[in-house]
Amino acid sequence: MTNNKTKKRVFSGTRATGRLHLGNYLGAVKGYIELQNREDLDCIYMAMDLHTITTPYDQNTLAQASRDVIMDYLAAGLDPEKSIITLQSMVPEHTYLAFLFSSMASVAQMTHLPTFKDKVKQHPEDVTMALLNYPILMAADILLYRSDLVPAGIDQEPHIEVAREIARKFNNRFGTDFPATKRFETKGTYVPSLMGQGKMSKSVAGSAINLTDDLKTITKKLSKTPTDSGQGDCVPTEGGVANLLTLVELFQSEEKRREYEGLYTSSGIRYGDLKKSLAEAISEELKPIQERRIELEANPEYVEQVIEDGAKKAREIARETIKEVKEKMGLI
Ligand code: TYM
Repeated sequence: MTNNKTKKRVFSGTRATGRLHLGNYLGAVKGYIELQNREDLDCIYMAMDLHTITTPYDQNTLAQASRDVIMDYLAAGLDPEKSIITLQSMVPEHTYLAFLFSSMASVAQMTHLPTFKDKVKQHPEDVTMALLNYPILMAADILLYRSDLVPAGIDQEPHIEVAREIARKFNNRFGTDFPATKRFETKGTYVPSLMGQGKMSKSVAGSAINLTDDLKTITKKLSKTPTDSGQGDCVPTEGGVANLLTLVELFQSEEKRREYEGLYTSSGIRYGDLKKSLAEAISEELKPIQERRIELEANPEYVEQVIEDGAKKAREIARETIKEVKEKMGLI
């Protein structure tokens, strides 16, 4: 890959804040894999370790957490022969471009973003400049490679909009040719929490099934999802039951979901049976990923090599973008 794009580009990433869960897998990683296998696209996927330090984190575990993301990627099916796979902090051009971009982004706009407001609520004592700059760094991640597509969950849309806006402003003022990046949506673009409210998330206890969970753990977690009597005039559209039905659709089939919906308005759903067959279906899909993960854990040199090679290839493209943007901004 060089900066003269011959194919459309794809960029995405995951923060190194803990093991990947089904939301990350269905909303993002499955999309990464689908796009990596398309001939017309060049893909770049990273563990976003610089974004991880925008909220409180542990410096003793960050390096391993970043490698965990990379191992989860590889175990899920990302292929370094097809995609560039590396750590964000190994390509310093991301932060360089973020600083250049910050000259065209207003503080007011950043403070009004819903994602910023959520984080301020979660960590009122840790509202740092890094947190305020989060969307600008993300715009830099995407536009450093002139990426056309970003496979990501629906929660990332406001950030991708910031990238489009910065691209537009830069193109108008400096004559750059940054694209209007679009989000690539998977079927699991919004995976709900097991607890019945909100999305599946690393930061909400009990809300998530991790890629590493075995059948016993998945069964136990699903057993805590709140349900109702199993019968009624209309199928709930929110809460625990609605969320279970979404997971049935994502891991079993749309037909299976419709079958349960039919039962709800007739003889009734037996949630014990639903949860058992759902847990088995989830475990079935995760098993091959878990097996590959164990092989990767035994081969840390391979994982390091993937990261090193990926960083080298990413930097080649990144350097060219920085050179061009600096010239156009009058910095040379
Ligand atoms: P992060 O680490 O929170 O999540 C990684 C990806 O997982 C998706 N996701 C979900 N999708 C559906 N349902 C859910 N419950 C769910 N939970 C998480 C997210 O949408 C995301 O795609 N800001 C990003 C990291 C990032 C990035 C980037 C992404 C930094 N730079 C450039 C794309 C491009 C984030 O915090 O993702």
